[in-house]
Amino acid sequence: MPKVAVIVPGAGSGKRFGGGQNKIFAKIHDQPMFIHTLEVFTALEDVVQTIFVCSAKDAPDVKERFGGHLGFMGVTLIEGGATRSQSVRNALAKVADEAELIAVHDAARPCVSRVWVQAVFAEADKTGAALLALPLHGTLKRVSASGVVDETLPREKFDNLWEAQTPQVFRKDLLLQAYAAGRDATDDAALIEALGHPVSVVPGDPRNIKVTTPNDLTFARAVVQTLPRPRETRPFHPFQEGQW
Ligand code: CTP
Ligand code: MG
Repeated sequence: MPKVAVIVPGAGSGKRFGGGQNKIFAKIHDQPMFIHTLEVFTALEDVVQTIFVCSAKDAPDVKERFGGHLGFMGVTLIEGGATRSQSVRNALAKVADEAELIAVHDAARPCVSRVWVQAVFAEADKTGAALLALPLHGTLKRVSASGVVDETLPREKFDNLWEAQTPQVFRKDLLLQAYAAGRDATDDAALIEALGHPVSVVPGDPRNIKVTTPNDLTFARAVVQTLPRPRETRPFHPFQEGQW
């Protein structure tokens, strides 16, 4: 397997989540969300470097409360920027020479399983660029600010639409080239697409949600209990009967 550097951006402020602190500190059972996220990657053999990006505002707190834990896990801590892209860009400057692939995974997606991570690593190793995504199956409606349906989107218009998740994984030179172009995007794959390089889609899992609101946290707490702890080595069958 290729050597992978993992960038975990957590330098937002969690505005939509609300509350007095960044959502990435919200507890899921025994630990803050971002520690759950990081642990999945630091336990993987292919991962040669894990970079956690936090905001300048949160950095002193992270160092004081979690510095020892992060050091023990081998995580490098750096400061992010005003946008997610800037946060990733700051981390790119610290990626180890030995890394062949770079994975970017939101700190706010703590329910990722190493099985899905390994699937997207393997695809990126083959094709140079891959992400997890989920096909949209529902009926999509545009809703007015007052909560009334304006429009039901015709099915044919969103045929073959998928929702992007993370991890998104790229050959190192490709991602560096994409970021050198200076564009900003909330989705790293979009920058690779802009280079004209094909990006492969690996079917994800609905449990790999991004925590955006407090309701998502309730869901994440339930999901985490269905996933294997990172250091267990037993095989994980994502669709086992009765898992819920
Ligand atoms: N992120 C980052 N740097 C930024 C903004 C976001 O590293 N300047 C990170 C967030 O911490 C999060 C991920 O990117 O882990 C996805 O962003 P999002 O879910 O939008 O988080 P926030 O920007 O913190 O939330 P909100 O948009 O509600 O303020
Ligand atoms: Mg945001």
